[in-house]
Amino acid sequence: MMELTGKKIVLGLSGGVACYKAAELCRAFTKAGASVQVVMTEAATHFITAVTMQALSGRQVYTDQWDPRVSNNMAHIDVTRDADAIVVAPCSTDFIRKLAHGACDDLLSTMCVARPRHVPLLIAPAMNVEMWQNPATQRNVQQLRDDGITIFGPAAGDQACGEVGLGRMLEPEQLLEEVIASFQQKVLAGKRIMITAGPTFEPIDPVRGITNLSSGKMGYAVARAAREAGAEVTLVSGPVTLPVPFGVQRINVQSAQQMFDAVMADVDHQHIFIAVAAVADWRIANASEQKLKKNPDGTAPDLKFEQNPDILATVAARTNLAGHPYCVGFAAESENLVKFGADKREKKGIPLLVGNIGHHTFGQDDNTIILFDENGHTILPRADKLTLARQLISEISKRISQHSLFAK
Ligand code: CTP
Repeated sequence: MMELTGKKIVLGLSGGVACYKAAELCRAFTKAGASVQVVMTEAATHFITAVTMQALSGRQVYTDQWDPRVSNNMAHIDVTRDADAIVVAPCSTDFIRKLAHGACDDLLSTMCVARPRHVPLLIAPAMNVEMWQNPATQRNVQQLRDDGITIFGPAAGDQACGEVGLGRMLEPEQLLEEVIASFQQKVLAGKRIMITAGPTFEPIDPVRGITNLSSGKMGYAVARAAREAGAEVTLVSGPVTLPVPFGVQRINVQSAQQMFDAVMADVDHQHIFIAVAAVADWRIANASEQKLKKNPDGTAPDLKFEQNPDILATVAARTNLAGHPYCVGFAAESENLVKFGADKREKKGIPLLVGNIGHHTFGQDDNTIILFDENGHTILPRADKLTLARQLISEISKRISQHSLFAK
């Protein structure tokens, strides 16, 4: 998906070893459809060349405020006028200081100060752990926050200098996700949301089990969309091979019972609960501790099933007087979706249910969904799962803001 199509990003590099990651970030931006204008400080050119950044962005790189190639010599004004965002990555300790004080002593800092108010400034700090933790740096970082500058990271880990701790620049793919998220409306800011996703795996013995074809893609897309909307997201996930969306806390489980236990341990202080997981209705009651062997007489093992707890119905029954958590269910049907979806919403006792045709969606990248609420149903036409997830999050935010009890 070309998430940044039509976006114009000014990518600023200040001096730091993490400049090597800026090359990858530039590529990631252009692959996502953005046009990228690179601006480098003099210090950055000691870590990576302008030629490399020019090749990756497909544009001339600006490094100097006295650049005679700029016809009106106003690069600090012109470059940001039609920009959608300025991203400074890496942002050094010294560049943070400059931003905190409104310094204008090179092209990039002048450009940041001269940017129009509607152009967001996003920075990815990169520095040694002691430099990051230094009180002067922390004072400056606080000033940037107060000034409305968005700060991505830094992460903790091994540093180029051999020390370990906070100060690593986020990885390019994480920064890409953060920049994409920065363009989304923060309709769930301050909300806590728990999401179940993926299949469950019900053991028969230590090496075998029963599962289903859910890939987890929809649940993970909902988790990402919720995080993009500003929520604090906990994702309780059955076994899938998907990467965790950046900033989402994932709890891994296997069986329906484990999913039930993980949800119940933390659901009561959530504002929203979305059950996307394809939970197995039954587990094997007589699962074996040891691997089952074939019977010499050729008879099949005598497996007994028992029903799993219904996670969504249990959470819905705990909804408190303030309407928390607002419960959203998913229904995977194989036929008669409009009737079965409406019935299932009532049966589960939830305000919103998302219906889809199971074998049309499991493992696919796109889907068609129908929303069922007390007023009837609405079809969201076929789209990729992230687009649908964003629409769903927006629908949920509208419903909870209408819910007077949600008002603070
Ligand atoms: N669900 C759940 N716990 C279960 C079973 C289902 O939380 N033990 C949730 C799913 O995550 C989904 C919704 O309930 O949000 C509906 O799941 P589905 O399998 O379609 O419905 P069932 O309740 O199992 O009904 P049936 O299989 O009879 O259609």
